[in-house]
Amino acid sequence: MAPAGTIPDEVRVPKGRGRKMKLTQWALAALLTAGVASPALADGDAARGQTLFSRCSACHTVTEQNKMGPHLSGVFGRTAGTVAGYTYSKAMAAYGKAWDEATLDAFLTAPNKAVPGTKMAAGAIANPQDRADIIAYLKTLGAS
Ligand code: HEC
Repeated sequence: MAPAGTIPDEVRVPKGRGRKMKLTQWALAALLTAGVASPALADGDAARGQTLFSRCSACHTVTEQNKMGPHLSGVFGRTAGTVAGYTYSKAMAAYGKAWDEATLDAFLTAPNKAVPGTKMAAGAIANPQDRADIIAYLKTLGAS
């Protein structure tokens, strides 16, 4: 039994050990932070996306009403160019793909590159996080 006031051997940390532990913990924390940040980027923040949708709402509603562009209610999973009563460009009508994360991301990055000849003349979103957030919002708009 150690006399009162002295630290028992098993509790004492050898010199240099404390610093090593701190570095390991720091590296682990950095790894964890990176791991948490990337899925957030891929998933997107729908609430933020709803705010960013102001860049689309001049031409698109999220109800079933067409404006200058087709309505975007239920757009996620819908085949491009298929809203009834909307007159698409020939390019969009012929595109034929369904709107998912990949097709929406490409289209919103550069509409005219993804669908050459589209008549969507504005609405390109340069920032990848903004695009992910808008796509997350579009996902919440239900099925058509
Ligand atoms: C200046 C008006 C305008 C703006 C702003 C705009 N769009 Fe469009 N959008 C259109 C038009 C017009 C079309 C039809 C394109 C065609 O037929 O080639 C379209 C088509 C689309 C389609 C294809 C829909 C379908 O039924 O296949 C999606 C998806 C889309 N827009 C998303 C967006 C998003 C998201 C934004 C905002 C970031 C946006 N648009 C901003 C005019 C606009």
